[in-house]
Amino acid sequence: MMLLQTLSFSTLSILFVLIFIGGYVSASGVGLSCPDWPLCPAGLIPLQEFIIEYFHRTIAAITGLMVIITMIFTLKSKQAPQGMKIASLIAASAVIAQITLGAIVIIERLHAHLVTLHLGIGIILFSMMVLVTLYSRRIQNNNTKESISNLEKKSTTVS
Ligand code: HEM
Repeated sequence: MMLLQTLSFSTLSILFVLIFIGGYVSASGVGLSCPDWPLCPAGLIPLQEFIIEYFHRTIAAITGLMVIITMIFTLKSKQAPQGMKIASLIAASAVIAQITLGAIVIIERLHAHLVTLHLGIGIILFSMMVLVTLYSRRIQNNNTKESISNLEKKSTTVS
């Protein structure tokens, strides 16, 4: 199904960008530049003092929404295989856990164990989205194969 293919690939791509920004937040030591939760001190206005952290949160919110929308469409799809449904369910659970953990990481002032867990859940989330994206391509391939074999059947009955 074209929609699931586009949706899952877009979600995977934005997640990849988010992980990059997360790495930068951590490595450049700006993790506490925005000490409040869920909004930064200036509310929705991005200020230079916490712009990287602001991006990390905003993109995390968009990613979270996209992962959940992908799960809804996957669960509703009649063609999606069982494995794809399970992977999208795990991805949605991981994204909710990750955003909740993001808040705890801030409250606990970047405790090393929690930041490591944050990276770990990010990896699980990414792997699940890779699976969902690959499965969505399989649906497309199966559809193509089906239509080719239908065409072949038709042509043999005609001849
Ligand atoms: C889908 C959602 C999210 C993903 C995939 C994600 C991913 C990541 C990754 C990969 C890192 C780098 C970790 C490392 O290098 O060890 C990171 C760092 C960080 N994330 Fe997230 N993140 C998400 C949501 C959030 C949210 C909602 C917050 C809340 C504010 C948050 C707060 C942080 C902080 C503070 C750091 C830096 C930790 C440090 O300074 O060591 N993250 N994130």
